[in-house]
Amino acid sequence: MRLSQLLPTFTFLASALAQSSLTAWEQIHQTLNTYPLAIDFKNGPRFNDVFSQDAFANYTGPLANLQGIDAIRDSLLASVAGLATQHQLGTSVIDIDASGTNANSTTYFTANLVSVAGSTAGDFTVLFGLYRDDLVKSADGWRINKRYLEFMTPNLGNLTLG
Ligand SMILES: *[C@@H]1O[C@H](CO)[C@@H](O)[C@H](O)[C@H]1NC(C)=O
Ligand SMILES: *[C@@H]1O[C@H](CO)[C@@H](O)[C@H](O)[C@H]1NC(C)=O
Ligand SMILES: *[C@@H]1O[C@H](CO)[C@@H](O)[C@H](O)[C@H]1NC(C)=O
Repeated sequence: MRLSQLLPTFTFLASALAQSSLTAWEQIHQTLNTYPLAIDFKNGPRFNDVFSQDAFANYTGPLANLQGIDAIRDSLLASVAGLATQHQLGTSVIDIDASGTNANSTTYFTANLVSVAGSTAGDFTVLFGLYRDDLVKSADGWRINKRYLEFMTPNLGNLTLG
């Protein structure tokens, strides 16, 4: 067998090894921090790296009752249509239970939402809040199974955007 034929296998093993060399805390931190990449780059498939298929999410308001990953992905992506966004995560405290398969976390975020379309182009909203998450470990890695968003301060800017 040629070396080039083996390369995909090496790459896969290297990636699996890299993942397993992370502690559970680090793996959970990676999952939490993949969310901004999914939402800000409007990358639908990346939501699979963040949420479990049967996840529930409450992002408040019209996004308060999202059941299952399809509803979570489609509703959140629809909510940022016409906006350029940056979700900045900060303080993150993660508790992992004794079984090593369940965890919960509290993570602060600041979300900057800027309209880039239509007559509101340039309008912005800044949201200050936190996520309370329950996570489960699956064969694919740690995934958010329940997410509750809470705002921490009044939000700024044109609130009809967010
Ligand atoms: C979603 O969260 C809001 C704010 O904390 C709360 O008022 C509401 O009852 C929650 N809804 C669901 C379905 O969990
Ligand atoms: C995890 O859940 C427990 C029980 O509700 C709570 O006391 C703890 O603060 C939570 N940990 C985090 C990091 O949110
Ligand atoms: C806020 O945005 C809405 C559209 O989402 C727009 O109709 C409204 O004029 C904007 N308000 C201000 C004060 O710019």
